[in-house]
Amino acid sequence: MRRTFLAAIAAAVIPVAASAQMKVNVSIDSDITDGQIIPKEIYGQFAEHLGACIYGGLWVGPESDIPNIDGYRTDVLEALKTLKVPVMRWPGGCFADEYHWRDGIGPREDRPRMVNSNWGGTVEDNSFGTHEFLNLCEMLGCEPYISGNVGSGTVEELAKWVEYMTAPDGPMAKLRAQNGRKEPWKVKYLGVGNESWGCGGNMVPEYYSHLYRRYQTYCRNFGDNRLYKVASGASDYDYNWTEVLMKNIGSQMDGVSLHYYTVKGWDGSKGSATEFTDEEYYNTLGKAVEIESVIKRHIAIMDSYDPDNNIDLLLDEWGTWFDVEPGTNPGHLFQQNTMRDAMVAALSFNIFHKYTSRLKMANIAQIANVLQSMVLTDGAKMVLTPTYHVFRMYNVHQDATYLPLTCSSRNFTDSNGRECPVVDATASRNAEGVVNVTLTNTDLENGAEITISIAAVGKPEITAEILTSGNISDYNGFDNPENVKPAAFNDFKAKDGKITVKMPAKSIISLSIR
Ligand code: AHR
Repeated sequence: MRRTFLAAIAAAVIPVAASAQMKVNVSIDSDITDGQIIPKEIYGQFAEHLGACIYGGLWVGPESDIPNIDGYRTDVLEALKTLKVPVMRWPGGCFADEYHWRDGIGPREDRPRMVNSNWGGTVEDNSFGTHEFLNLCEMLGCEPYISGNVGSGTVEELAKWVEYMTAPDGPMAKLRAQNGRKEPWKVKYLGVGNESWGCGGNMVPEYYSHLYRRYQTYCRNFGDNRLYKVASGASDYDYNWTEVLMKNIGSQMDGVSLHYYTVKGWDGSKGSATEFTDEEYYNTLGKAVEIESVIKRHIAIMDSYDPDNNIDLLLDEWGTWFDVEPGTNPGHLFQQNTMRDAMVAALSFNIFHKYTSRLKMANIAQIANVLQSMVLTDGAKMVLTPTYHVFRMYNVHQDATYLPLTCSSRNFTDSNGRECPVVDATASRNAEGVVNVTLTNTDLENGAEITISIAAVGKPEITAEILTSGNISDYNGFDNPENVKPAAFNDFKAKDGKITVKMPAKSIISLSIR
């Protein structure tokens, strides 16, 4: 019975995708002077001790044959510099609540080993620790976001970690100097636990919020360092978690987190990252854009307790989650990354931009070799994923003024009844007055003609790029690393304050208008 019902709905999806080329009007309010700034932290990253994210992905060690700078892979460093990574969360994830920072300082050869029991039982040698992470952030010019251990660590341990990283003097500063770093680092973001409802301690929200109050009390501001404290927030639809935290923690937190994965379901197969039907493609997008209603509901709860908007929402884990690649360790979460993932990233950013009066950070899971990664590595080889290219194309929106727009596109309905725009758009204006517009056409078959109406642009100078590929399941393999990559785009015309763009099927286009 259920199968017949789903098949009937699925049949309804296909004609939407297969209908004629659509004309879409996008009208941008480009005159706006007091618009919301899109915080650059919306383009944040997440690096966990999981699979080959740290070891092999970011870090190979100074003795490695793989080209490196002080142990960090040169190719990955260069790729990340281009992305303009604003903030990086570390060391987890679930790993954070089993991580004991003292194991990761001092001479590397003396560091104790541990079993990474969350992620495949791999032996962790702690060769990448506090110094390695914070120095990496300095090299990339990004803010570190430390995720503290509440699940299995003590208040004292977390308090001393903060002191070790940020105090200008005192016993922890002395120890830090003995380990090679005299000056304190600047550490702003401090997560007090991770997924405390699950791998971070299986707590109920009342218990966690009381624990949070105690842990945060002893995380001090040393010297001129100012901590921004983040409470471990809800998983997707757990609105009660947010409600209890807002009620019980209130002004003792600067932000509360939220995790949302684009996943088919937590039981059984999550589907292949590279082999999927058209129906599965549209369902993935449907699930991805469902995040908008989830964000709205969490914000509504926050609004009711914090009408003055003092507490931020941080989506510190998001992205696609598929089955691991065949033959790889199921605990290492290594998945390929196709044009479908690129589409998920673009649609997600379009949504995030709308809610930045409350949503101040988002960290994709994860930066390398895990889930929806920026880069994948195999020994000395590295590929940039289609998702990487979206992050690069969209980084023009970092710290720019959000420009509200209307888009006349119809929606498609996926086979779970979720709606998603066929064509979507977002826009911002940077400090130099350049308007950046990014367009997505999710339709697998049909192009679209987009007419952008934009005030205050007379004879614009426009440069544009496109990301598309022959098949939506195309990806960058280690033997064809440039299969999916952006290209210059010029199928547009500008006349009388309107720009007409001929958008191919399944494409993402960015336009810079000056
Ligand atoms: O990103 C992978 C895992 O997903 C993280 O460790 C955890 O916080 C979440 O469940």
